[in-house]
Amino acid sequence: MKISVIGTGYLGATHAACMAELGFDVVGVDVDPAKVDQLNSGVVPFFEPDLEPLLRKHVETDRLRFTTSLVEAAAFADVHFVCVGTPQQKGRLAADTSYVEAVVEGLAPHLRPGALVVGKSTVPVGTAAALRETLLRLSPAPDVELAWNPEFLREGFAVADTLRPDRLVIGTSSTYVEEQLRTVYAHALADGCPLIVTSLETAELVKSAANSFLATKISFINAMAEICEATGADVVQLADAIGHDVRIGRRFLGAGLGFGGGCLPKDIRAFQARANELGLTKSVAFLGDVDDINVRRRARTVSLAHEVLGGRISDRKVAVLGAAFKPNSDDVRDSPALDVADQLHLRGAEVVVYDPAATGTARRRSPQLTYASRLEEAYDCADLVMVLTEWSEFLALDPAAVAGKVRARNVIDGRNALDPVTWRAAGWHYRGLGRP
Ligand code: UGA
Repeated sequence: MKISVIGTGYLGATHAACMAELGFDVVGVDVDPAKVDQLNSGVVPFFEPDLEPLLRKHVETDRLRFTTSLVEAAAFADVHFVCVGTPQQKGRLAADTSYVEAVVEGLAPHLRPGALVVGKSTVPVGTAAALRETLLRLSPAPDVELAWNPEFLREGFAVADTLRPDRLVIGTSSTYVEEQLRTVYAHALADGCPLIVTSLETAELVKSAANSFLATKISFINAMAEICEATGADVVQLADAIGHDVRIGRRFLGAGLGFGGGCLPKDIRAFQARANELGLTKSVAFLGDVDDINVRRRARTVSLAHEVLGGRISDRKVAVLGAAFKPNSDDVRDSPALDVADQLHLRGAEVVVYDPAATGTARRRSPQLTYASRLEEAYDCADLVMVLTEWSEFLALDPAAVAGKVRARNVIDGRNALDPVTWRAAGWHYRGLGRP
């Protein structure tokens, strides 16, 4: 079985390399020739742990190659995974599905008989059925099919999540398609990974529901953080206490700056837009609150900085540690850390940002900020140190050593990831979010 993977972002590049690792011959497709050249020379154009060695290994053995040609991919492969982006439309809540549509329209006329197109991109419910109609209308080849196979990988763990998924969902009504995908995922299935075969609509909704649930869980604990701040309670202890209830669980109850990235924020917005189109204006209206709570955490962090600096932000040096939306990633899409840095800069602070991997992507998004190439350079003579992405490098900081370098011992822990006891013992004025 030969495989093509269309779109080579975090999802597609990882999927392509992992399919090669599982023994398939793979061609990856992207519209950007520079990216294709990089990938063909074994270089991953973004930061994702463990991906580059895997990619290089399979590019070197010729099991994996990249091209800009959809026609070439159509001639080569039996199964085509669609992994292109579905970003938020400008000025609207809805997702832009035009890239997914363009891929299906581009592939369809050139497909081989019996070819299977498998969508992995996150799309509004109803998209896959429309794409299937397009495919059957435009493809002259007999027996082509379209299925939906949502992806649940996390950035930073993309390779492990792809090779060892915690569940597989396949939207199809065809037993032939199910058999084909059972072959693709034989390795995970042999390891006991659960497989749920659904309709196209259920498969699409599983993904929207999963990301909405995760976002809601984070905003729930951040709403509790707001209450804790007003009452002197401690949200971390609260999360520990409720998290022991196995029905609730402690994961994704990390209170702090909230969620960002290319998935959770846009997916909850797209879900609301789709529900509204369906006339279900109330069903997921609560996701509007989830979004609001999330965005309020950023404003709260800026006002906390204001407070800690005694009401005067301008010309004070603020060390912002972290620009990526989460650790082990260079992704700054909708990054809470970078938003806070931008806001402080706008208020006149001298902001110096340090991130172990995301300086390049952050500089492209926020060129007005100053970027340090070393961690020490960022906090040197700072009036305030803010940990806004919980990279392990920041968690390992020795508060006594840092204390000797700063102008004032003020630290804001935007991720409740530092140990307040050791920082306070070293003379720091420590503030977390939702903590007394
Ligand atoms: C998310 C989902 O977790 C994946 O299952 C899904 O496949 C992916 O979106 C996607 O749709 O492609 P990801 O965006 O990589 O994955 O990041 P998460 O690990 O979910 O974190 C999202 C954000 O939530 C980060 O900004 C993180 O800092 C924040 N977060 C996470 C919290 O604020 N608190 C927590 O307790 C956990």
